Amino acid sequence: MKLTKQEQQMFNGELGEAARESMEILVALGKIYDAERMVPVTSVQVSGVSYKTIGEAGLEYLADLAAKGGKVRVPTFLNPAGMDESQWREMRIPEDFAKKQIAVLDAYTKMGIMKTCTCAPYFIGIRPRKGEHIAWAESSAVAFANSVLGAMTNREGGPSALAAAICGVTPYYGLHIDSNRISRLVVDVDCELKTIADFGALGSLVGKLAKNNHPAFRGVKNASEEQLKVLGASMAATGSVPLFFVENVTPEWNVTDSAEKIRITEDELKGEKKKLDSGLKPNLVTIGCPHASLKEIREVADMVGRKKPTCEFWVCTSRKLKEEAEKLGYAKAIEAAGGRVVADTCMVVCPLESMGYSVTGTNSGKAAAYLPNLCKQKVAFGDLEEILYR
Ligand code: F3S
Repeated sequence: MKLTKQEQQMFNGELGEAARESMEILVALGKIYDAERMVPVTSVQVSGVSYKTIGEAGLEYLADLAAKGGKVRVPTFLNPAGMDESQWREMRIPEDFAKKQIAVLDAYTKMGIMKTCTCAPYFIGIRPRKGEHIAWAESSAVAFANSVLGAMTNREGGPSALAAAICGVTPYYGLHIDSNRISRLVVDVDCELKTIADFGALGSLVGKLAKNNHPAFRGVKNASEEQLKVLGASMAATGSVPLFFVENVTPEWNVTDSAEKIRITEDELKGEKKKLDSGLKPNLVTIGCPHASLKEIREVADMVGRKKPTCEFWVCTSRKLKEEAEKLGYAKAIEAAGGRVVADTCMVVCPLESMGYSVTGTNSGKAAAYLPNLCKQKVAFGDLEEILYR
């Protein structure tokens, strides 16, 4: 691989041990994928933040890198952690877990990383422009950045994202190259998509059919950013899809002439929704996978203000939007209806399985895919209005 003078200095250890170890990771990755060089990145999103997912080995790795003087060179921010730092006791997070989680966050902040703790950084103003090279790690954020914003990123792993942050570059391969951003799978949507759950079920279904393709959707009349984030997140969960196109909606539409074509009907969509749903009444409904926007928080506040849900519920979002929701009175309306606005974490990466819940409701295909294995939950899947009052 061709390295610039500064990259070579990092590789040789002239710019510190943390930079040397990080550049070693990037060069190894570049060799695997045949990258001829590195490309500078303008921002990095680091995953591997919840102590639940990284465990003791992950914490040791981070603490060690921070102790070796690891410092990020570009704006870098975090994926959700395993708990809301300001209300973990009220949420019944075990104390041992909380201590470890705080140590993980301390190691990241020591390296100069912003404690955003969100999988939807694009809702708090972190919005790379079309064609901008970035190194993001969380699968739904990657899908959104590539597809909805037109930025360019591979799906980084936790260590490779952190290495990119410390070195300010990432290997130039995959979705950093225009000619790889094409679709060989056209999806004709022959059904009505009204709710977030419709987009979640569509994503869940198409992810399973995508087979390493970048799906290109036709027939979606319009879609909000909230609907697109759920579509992308769900496909990323069931099919590791990092990029998709929606005709006349997303900034790119590159489809090969020989693309395979599939059609999704009303019955198939209904069938997928049914498949994802256990039919049980949830003891907790979780909203915001990926993290809720302010508009979604307001809609929930309006809904539960009209009628109190029949179960506990959380609205998961970033700390910044939680604070805005508090200022605007949305959080108060949600609390008055028996809910909680939860920041920094989510239903999947917090230790839900140790908190007394067994059936969790969601309208996201991603949460529905992960809750059974990662949190030992049965899933109540459906439109928000239905699962909140089931
Ligand atoms: Fe975000 Fe957690 Fe869903 S990290 S995408 S809310 S599983």
